[in-house]
Amino acid sequence: MIVAGNWKLNTTLIEGLNLASRIEDSISKLGPMEVRVIAAAPYTHLDRMVNSTDRIDVFAQDVSRHESGAFTGEVSAGMLKSIGVKGSIVGHSERRAYHGENDELIHEKIQMCLQHDLEVIYCCGEQLEDRKNGHTMKVIERQISKALSKLNVDQFDSLVIAYEPVWAIGTGETATPRQAQEVHEFIRNWLKQNKGEEVSEKTQILYGGSVKPGNADELFQKPDIDGGLIGGASLKAEDFIQIVRAAG
Ligand code: PGA
Repeated sequence: MIVAGNWKLNTTLIEGLNLASRIEDSISKLGPMEVRVIAAAPYTHLDRMVNSTDRIDVFAQDVSRHESGAFTGEVSAGMLKSIGVKGSIVGHSERRAYHGENDELIHEKIQMCLQHDLEVIYCCGEQLEDRKNGHTMKVIERQISKALSKLNVDQFDSLVIAYEPVWAIGTGETATPRQAQEVHEFIRNWLKQNKGEEVSEKTQILYGGSVKPGNADELFQKPDIDGGLIGGASLKAEDFIQIVRAAG
């Protein structure tokens, strides 16, 4: 199981380091657990967090598609790797919505990470309109085909998929465990058909979208849900830890 916090555009450096250290303290008190804890923090925090955390794997929230050059404001996979960051989120719906990211660009970013030995949490998910029109699976299939079809089987060792219905992100509205399981099962079957049984079994598929202490348990009990990508609730150490506990 994986529980990953996505801090988004929140916390100053000091606030972020405090949050990370509170999470670390609480995890150590929980004792041995089969849960991998990840925090995707703002770029400004990453170096310090890599050096001050032990039980938390530090991720970036995004990465450039470019290797280097005249791309003002971008941060490359090689730069992240050089400070010990473990991986990056790629294709978050907020990047798609506010920064015009499409499936092809997302595929390039995934490749860039994998070339630099960075892990990827790849996000996919439908809009409310898609769900209402009964197009959820079609949209998911289009997204994952474009992003993942060209990857070879070995590359899936470094890839985690996060299903995040856009209508459930930051809205307080969560997909029901049944709705989430349905899509997770669909993704797992796609992996089986396209990348084989082994990839389909070992790839971890996280659910994201208003996961909270009150609903984590039920979501994580579903057979194809291997953890969560947590936004709002990852900013409160107590809530985040309760979600980690629900995964343990
Ligand atoms: P949320 O965000 O938990 O605040 O809905 C999840 C995400 O965007 O990854």
